[in-house]
Amino acid sequence: MSQKSEINDTQLRELLYQALETELGGEQVYKQALKCVINEDLQEEWEAYLEETRTHQKILRNVFEKLGLDSTVQSTGRDVVHHIGKSLVDSMRIALESGGRAAAELVAAECVVLAETKDHLNWELIGHVAEAARGDTARILKSAHDEIEDQEDHHLYHTRGFLRELWLDALGLPAVLPPPEEVKNVKTAIGASRAEHAREQLM
Ligand SMILES: [Fe+2]
Ligand SMILES: [Fe+2]
Repeated sequence: MSQKSEINDTQLRELLYQALETELGGEQVYKQALKCVINEDLQEEWEAYLEETRTHQKILRNVFEKLGLDSTVQSTGRDVVHHIGKSLVDSMRIALESGGRAAAELVAAECVVLAETKDHLNWELIGHVAEAARGDTARILKSAHDEIEDQEDHHLYHTRGFLRELWLDALGLPAVLPPPEEVKNVKTAIGASRAEHAREQLM
C-alpha cells in the first residue's frame, strides 16, 4: 500500500491511552514478577525491562504532550487494560502465597508474556500509524516508535523463551537456560521461531 490512509483520530487516541495504561500496568507486573523470579539471568532481564518500561511511560507522556493530548483521559478500553494488569499482579501474588517460589516463577513468566503481548501489539500498531500518518503526527510517533521497537521485541520474545524453557525444566525435560532467543539476541518473530527450532543444538 503506497497510498496514505485517513487515520481515525478517535481510535488513535484510544490506542495511545491503552498503550500508556499498558506501560503503567507493566511496571507493576515487573515489580511483582521480580518477587517471584528464581533464575538469575531472568531476574537480570526483568530488572532491565522494568527500567525500560518506565522509560516507555516517559516517551508516551512526551507523545501526548507533543500531540496536545491529555494523558489522564479514561476510556472503557483503558479501564480494561488496567483491570487486566491488576489481575496479572494478583495472580502472581496468589501463586507466591500458595504455590511457592518455583510455581510462582512460572506464573510470573506467563504474566509477563501476557502483558508484553499487549505492549508489543500497541507499539506495532503505533508503528503502522506512524507509517500511514502525515506531518507532525507521523514524525512524533515515528521517533517514539524507533526508540522503543527493539526493546519491545526483547521483552516479548526473550521472556517467551524463558517461559518455555522454565516449563520444560519443571517437567523434567532438557531445558536451554538462558533460552536460545536470549543467546541469539533475537529481535524479530522470525528470529524467535528460528531460535526455538535451533534449541536442540544448544542442549
Ligand atoms: Fe513497553
Ligand atoms: Fe514491554
